[in-house]
Amino acid sequence: MKKILAFSGSNHSQSINQSLINVAASKVSKHEVTVLDLNDYPLPMYGLDVQAQGFPESATKLRELMSGYDALIIASPEHNGSMPAFLKNVIDWLSRLTTPGNPFFGDTVKPVLLMSTSPGPTGGATNIKTMAELMPWWGGEVKGTYSLGGFFDKYTDGQFDQETDRAISDVINTFEATI
Ligand SMILES: Cc1cc2nc3c(=O)[nH]c(=O)nc-3n(C[C@H](O)[C@H](O)[C@H](O)COP(=O)(O)O)c2cc1C
Repeated sequence: MKKILAFSGSNHSQSINQSLINVAASKVSKHEVTVLDLNDYPLPMYGLDVQAQGFPESATKLRELMSGYDALIIASPEHNGSMPAFLKNVIDWLSRLTTPGNPFFGDTVKPVLLMSTSPGPTGGATNIKTMAELMPWWGGEVKGTYSLGGFFDKYTDGQFDQETDRAISDVINTFEATI
């Protein structure tokens, strides 16, 4: 049994990507999953001068925590076709605490499932394509991607419609089989 860490790349209190990650995590059945809230690890905006004053405790804690997992599921919002500054900031801090060439996840390459959702039709797929391209550089091996458009048409009272729910189950089943 592998240990999966699941988190969204959002700092929105009503994050729809957090809703997606919560449902996705609830589908994990063959491995152990932990849902992390990145907001519990507040970080200042990365800068070389800020780093020169020392690493924030949240950055070292997060780095240590992540190294204890075998696989990641990330649901990222899309801001202007890219990942939100909030998530990029976390990546930038983590990258300064790991070995060069494998900046995000540390010394081992980890399997990653990339997910996203948005109210719009593409569901954040533009950003997920870019993140998938960058992931090998960050030390992750992308095993699957899933973008859900039209979030508010498909999610009511804390639940996805049947078709969407089934699609998320399929994505998680496939991911679980590859790790
Ligand atoms: C600054 C900004 C830029 C956005 N750009 C996009 C975009 O490029 N594509 C998209 O699908 N949605 C975009 N949106 C809408 C987000 O998908 C929406 O705010 C969503 O709730 C973000 O996910 P979250 O709730 O998990 O943070 C943008 C929202 C903001 C605030």
